Formats: sequence, structure tokens, C-alpha cells
Amino acid sequence: MSIREIQEEIRRLKKENDICILAHCYQAPEILEVADFTGDSYALAVNAAKVQHKTVLMCGVRFMAETCKILSPDKTVLLSNPDAGCPMAEMMDKVTIEAVKEMYPDYAVVAYINTTSELKTVCDVCVTSSSALKICRQLTSDKILFIPDCNLGDWIAKQIPEKEFKLLSGGCPTHARMGSEDVEKAKAAHPNALLLVHPECKPEVAAYADYIGSTTGIMDYAKKSDAKEFIIGTENSIVTHLQMACPDKRFYPLSKSCICANMKATTLIDVLHCCQGTGGEVIELDEDIMNGARRCIDKMIELG
Ligand code: 13P
Ligand code: SF4
Repeated sequence: MSIREIQEEIRRLKKENDICILAHCYQAPEILEVADFTGDSYALAVNAAKVQHKTVLMCGVRFMAETCKILSPDKTVLLSNPDAGCPMAEMMDKVTIEAVKEMYPDYAVVAYINTTSELKTVCDVCVTSSSALKICRQLTSDKILFIPDCNLGDWIAKQIPEKEFKLLSGGCPTHARMGSEDVEKAKAAHPNALLLVHPECKPEVAAYADYIGSTTGIMDYAKKSDAKEFIIGTENSIVTHLQMACPDKRFYPLSKSCICANMKATTLIDVLHCCQGTGGEVIELDEDIMNGARRCIDKMIELG
């Protein structure tokens, strides 16, 4: 079967079996083409809450499928590839954060959505890269314990100097592969290009950025900009998507090593198998975890 024929079969099956496909922007183009909704983590969470279909297939990583299940508990939620986790989400657990909370009892705990559902049960509110600033500004507390991504936390803290932030040393191993030496090399090779980076990047990279934002933020900025060349400091699939969307502009990766193996774990064949009922993982969560994490996610949607 060709890619086009597989895509046609997926489209037929998802209609027949009442499946809605959500795909994160880091997925491959052939997967984004068969999805009903594509976007960054925030857009996917908001759309997951609105979906009317019987089954939701999340093409992304585990915490995204769990968020989807929490927002749509009565639906069957499938993770496209059971091996697609997020190393950042696994970095901190509930027991650790409960101990940290005891050290900082008067701090609001803000959790990046890239956390486990169990950890979310002991946090006050979730954020994504596109909603973190707005949400942290609105919180009544002026003391914030931001977990687990210290790079995103640092970027937010610098923009809200009136609040006190405590950061822990977690983060995305994929974005952490890029350093100031990559910026120097890329800028020397493409002196007229704007540098657009994700806030999961280290401060030494963010410091040189012309724009910092979520995956959707980066894509929107590049599409609307009058500039013709861009260095992209996030998962390299965004370079491909942008190049396809804007053929008259040029896009370069900040580093060829910024590839997330977990986001790349899902293939079009995985999507086909999920639609055929023979692949993926049905997400099941304890009721206590669902209710505890839902409070944190609902707060994000309310404030975001
Ligand atoms: P956003 O989708 O919020 O840009 O986050 C990127 C990411 O790393 C998702 O895991
Ligand atoms: Fe997790 Fe980073 Fe991959 Fe996103 S890019 S899924 S944060 S490891």
C-alpha cells in the first residue's frame, strides 16, 4: 500500500468507527494530514474536552493521551504507540513533590502539562508553554513552585519579576541538546535568519532568540513574519512543517540533534492499526487520579 492508500483507509476507518484523531505538531506530516485536530499541547487539551466521537486517538506522547482521558472520561482514549512516553514527565513523582511542598508550604504548585496524572493530583494548576505566562500572572499567589521544567520556569519567572519562583532541575532532554555553540554556528551560517525557539530550550539559547514560544507560536510567528529566513530551535519536525507551509521562505534547524524519539515513535502504520482496532493502548486511570488531575487541568482551561 502507498502512503496515500494507507491514509485513505485511515480516513474510511475513522469515519466508520467514530474515531477522532488528535495529533501534536511534532508528529510526521503524513500523520498530521489524517488528523482531525493538530496543534500544541494546549490546543490538543482544549480540543480533547470538546470531542464528540466515541473514540479519541492521540498521536503524541502518554501524558497527552492521559490528559485526553481525564477530560473525556466516558470515551475510549487510545495512545497511538504505547512506547511513546515523555522523559520530562517521568522526572518527578508525587512523593518527591509532596516532600518539596512541605519545604515551601505557602507556594502555589504550577505543573507543566508534561507531568504524570498522579503528580498532577498534588499540584494547584497545570500550564502549557503557550498558556504558562497568562496563568502564572493570574494566580493570586505571589509565590510559585514551578515544576518540572526549569527552563520554561526561568523564562516565565523573568517576565513576572514581581512574583517569587522556585524552580527544580527538570527539563526536556531533547531541547537540552541545544547550546550556545549551536546558536553561534547557526547564526554564522545564516546571518539574516531570525532565531525562533521553544521555552524548553536552555536560557543560554533563549537569550539570543528573536521569538520564544510554543510549537504553534513558532509556526504562527514564522508564517506571519515578513522575514525570509528562520533558524528553528525546537523539535526538527517543525522545520519540515514550516518549509512545506511556506515554500518561499527558508527554515534551518538550530541543531540536527533536536529530534524527540518519543514523538517519532508513532508511524502511519500505528495509526492504521489503531483505527483497525489492533494497535495502540487504551488509556485506563484510577478514578481518584482522574478526579485529582482533572481539577488541575480544568483550572488551566479556565485561566488559559
Ligand atoms: P508545546 O506543544 O506546548 O509547544 O510543547 C512542546 C512539547 O515538548 C510537547 O511535549
Ligand atoms: Fe517530552 Fe521533550 Fe519529547 Fe516534548 S520534546 S515529548 S517534552 S521529551
